[in-house]
Amino acid sequence: MDLGQDRRGVDMGPSALRYARLAGVLEDLGYPVADLGNVETPIPETVEEASGTKHVGAVRAVCERVALRARDMVSGGLFPIFLGGDHSISIGTVSGVAGAAREAGGGRTGVLWVDAHSDFNTPETSPSGNVHGMPLAALTGRGHPDLVRIGGEGASINPEDTALVGLRSVDAEERQLLEEAGVNVYTMKEIDAYGAATVIRRALEDLSHLDRVHLSLDLDVVDPDVAPGVGTPVRGGLTYREAHLMMELANESGVVTSLDVVEVNPILDVRNGTAELAVELVGSLMGRQIINFPR
Ligand code: ARG
Ligand code: MN
Ligand code: MN
Ligand code: MN
Repeated sequence: MDLGQDRRGVDMGPSALRYARLAGVLEDLGYPVADLGNVETPIPETVEEASGTKHVGAVRAVCERVALRARDMVSGGLFPIFLGGDHSISIGTVSGVAGAAREAGGGRTGVLWVDAHSDFNTPETSPSGNVHGMPLAALTGRGHPDLVRIGGEGASINPEDTALVGLRSVDAEERQLLEEAGVNVYTMKEIDAYGAATVIRRALEDLSHLDRVHLSLDLDVVDPDVAPGVGTPVRGGLTYREAHLMMELANESGVVTSLDVVEVNPILDVRNGTAELAVELVGSLMGRQIINFPR
């Protein structure tokens, strides 16, 4: 889906990730992989441009379909990996995963949001009207009613069950909302000061009371020198090594139960390098190690 922002091409993210051998990398790690194909999504050229929150009706319809798919995967005991697409898909993925787990007695789901942006805008605070800047707010019950009710009425996630890592771009009014909401926030400043390992461990610790953790990985968290194929690059991001280390430590913790890989835009990329990096990072999250020492 590329309806949640203004630049074409992020809808090709899933093809770019498949082309970069995502399934092969997972199979090499010993996992059986089923590619369930794409979720039906209109292109912006066929969608009526409404004023205010851009393409909100179409985004909502797609996210409802995504949420149903997510539910089936969680009920089936699978580890879902959702390929975006802009970050608005996560309103569907997270609400579906969290709802299915809750109803099956599988308990409470937390979210580890790894992103240069906090995506905590509402239509009132958003400077762009782009839904990809709103998903985390919508998931915690704030924002456009059509977005908040995706995957079931009301909030899907408690703000205190979320941790944001890698922030360096927050809009002025978004910042106020974020400060009031009580989410756990780790900006690039904390990563610089304490190191990527300490920060990711603290974030995982913040989520340790939960039964499931959904990792939502926006590739723009990585520095644009390393990952240029994203629609909203912000300099000063994670290095290649920091990004891998975070995924390796998330793997070690064993708590992650579902994953989004979003905002990969092959049109803006250099030789599909951002999709290739994303696939490497999924490999690290899912257990690839440089060498297998007994622990
Ligand atoms: N804060 C900006 C906005 O709301 C940028 C959001 C970028 N989000 C993303 N998922 N890349 O428009
Ligand atoms: Mn349009
Ligand atoms: Mn994002
Ligand atoms: Mn982002």
